[in-house]
Amino acid sequence: MTPLDILLATHVLMATLSVSLFIYRGTRYLAPHPAPIHDPRWLRVTPHLVDTLLLLTGVALAWTLALDPFAVKWLGVKLLLVVAYIAVGILAFRIPRPRWLRMGLFILALLIFADIVAIALTRSPAGLGA
Ligand code: HEM
Repeated sequence: MTPLDILLATHVLMATLSVSLFIYRGTRYLAPHPAPIHDPRWLRVTPHLVDTLLLLTGVALAWTLALDPFAVKWLGVKLLLVVAYIAVGILAFRIPRPRWLRMGLFILALLIFADIVAIALTRSPAGLGA
């Protein structure tokens, strides 16, 4: 295994953990009769650690492979969608709003995540639309 393989494996592992934690939090926040939401400390801290590692390994991969997001279209689109994934996720969980809207935002964030993975695997900016 080369250092690049380890970097890529860590990146993919963090992506998997990130969406798993997101779905787990979603099932807690968006349940029809949610118990009072009081996340344990690990659930408040771990997503930030995982997402930070996801971004750092992504930047390290782009750096190592000499990929410039302003020149490589799929990477530029992927980065914009990562920002959208984070923003929609924050809206779905943090701001009080009707349940149907929170549920819609949650599903939208998952669709954006799927598109990010499709872009990463195909290296095409079309992603799911390909
Ligand atoms: C939600 C966030 C992200 C997800 C779900 C994600 C997902 C993935 C996946 C699944 C791969 C593996 C593709 C393969 O094995 O062929 C990958 C590779 C990669 N990702 Fe990400 N990623 C995310 C964020 C980022 C960010 C923020 C950056 C850059 C700043 C980035 C840059 C890269 C690069 C450069 C590769 C390697 C592409 C190659 O081998 O040619 N990723 N990503």
